[in-house]
Amino acid sequence: MSRRSHSSSPPPRSAKRTKIDHLTSEDFKNGVFLAPMVRSGALPTRLFALKHGATLVWGPEMVDKAILHAERVVDPITGVISYNGKSRAMFTTHPIEKPYLIYQIGSADPELAVQAAKTVMQDVSGVDLNCGCPMPFSTHSGMGAALLTNPDLLCSILTALRREMPPEITVSAKIRLLPSQEDTLKLVERVVNTGISALTVHCRTRNMRDRDRALVERLREIVEFVQSMGKGIAVIENGDCTGWNDAKRVREITGAHSVMIARGAESNPTCFSPTPLKDLEKTLLPSYIRLAKYFDHNWGLTKFCVAQFKSQHITIKRQEATRLRQVLAQSKGFSGMDDIVGSWTGKEEFDAIAAAIEQHSPRDHRMLLEPTMELDESAMTTPPGTQNPEPPGSGAPFMPNTYRMAESTILAGRDAVTPTPGGGVASI
Ligand SMILES: Cc1cc2nc3c(=O)[nH]c(=O)nc-3n(C[C@H](O)[C@H](O)[C@H](O)COP(=O)(O)O)c2cc1C
Repeated sequence: MSRRSHSSSPPPRSAKRTKIDHLTSEDFKNGVFLAPMVRSGALPTRLFALKHGATLVWGPEMVDKAILHAERVVDPITGVISYNGKSRAMFTTHPIEKPYLIYQIGSADPELAVQAAKTVMQDVSGVDLNCGCPMPFSTHSGMGAALLTNPDLLCSILTALRREMPPEITVSAKIRLLPSQEDTLKLVERVVNTGISALTVHCRTRNMRDRDRALVERLREIVEFVQSMGKGIAVIENGDCTGWNDAKRVREITGAHSVMIARGAESNPTCFSPTPLKDLEKTLLPSYIRLAKYFDHNWGLTKFCVAQFKSQHITIKRQEATRLRQVLAQSKGFSGMDDIVGSWTGKEEFDAIAAAIEQHSPRDHRMLLEPTMELDESAMTTPPGTQNPEPPGSGAPFMPNTYRMAESTILAGRDAVTPTPGGGVASI
């Protein structure tokens, strides 16, 4: 990340903060969350997600040691907080996201995990342990999905975090399914007994890739099992949910308390809204770049995040969208985007986000479903062209191809209005 002059004192101006008490297990229920995503879960993405209805947001995984020696600096103009390593910012955040921000840790060591959590705890509301990353750089050192087959270590990290962190910081975990449901339930029982507030289950096994359909049908039994333990812990579904409207379907199938979205939000950070933005090259892209510029955000990371956007084109012609993307691809810095983003400083974007969060607390943006939603077992078939990646007889049920959509109560289905450089307004 690039940096400008910093001071360790708090910013002279910051958005007026809504007074919100610390998170509890209840705050992890009836929500739609932004998943942890390295690179793609950058600060501007998290803020746009919150503005458009994400209930809570996870930061990208940070390996425990990486943050330990970082210097915490506050930008006196914007209030952005950077944890700077030797050559770059390891993690950036802003006080307006603190009530909704979960910091994710990659660790294979209880002591280091606690040190990492203590390093950032003044700026976050919860810490989450990544027990699902299947990549060799994570698993080689015993982190991520390697923890799934080392439950003693996994649970010792969670226990240490819960014991050492103050009660106002929640502790949660994100796991993957094990190949057998029986083993998954055994693991879940141990994890839940560590005292966590919430458990996210990425409904894929360690060997499955994102292109493999998530085994969401296996979650219902896990949710019921956790509920039967009587600790009030939230179970969060993760895998293949595309947005707010799709989250209703996922909750109906799984019974999960909440849903977490990764790639859907990478493609469109406004997917948390019942009316996500379309024509992103024209709507979200300029706003995103203006905010990133105001934050002095790293240009390469900004460009990467924006390049992931995908949306329906309604008012914008494909040719125009392609031209805008070409300008982006060729730009070597924020100034290369002046024709597209206008001459604004980006402060307007920040103020609009702060106002939207203040007016409608993201934690009130809840998805309330009918209390009894039974699965129609007769509707179970494998969708055409889809393979169930689990071996036959593993107990993994098939995907229902029809869903009985319960009448859902959707709260707070509104979007704030943001001015555009042309003087008009776009629902951003
Ligand atoms: C770009 C990218 C980065 C990711 N980084 C993380 C991470 O830092 N921590 C983590 O637990 N999972 C990470 N994941 C996995 C997602 O959080 C999520 O579990 C997975 O993509 C399945 O959700 P989806 O089907 O909604 O994409 C990442 C996924 C993507 C696409």
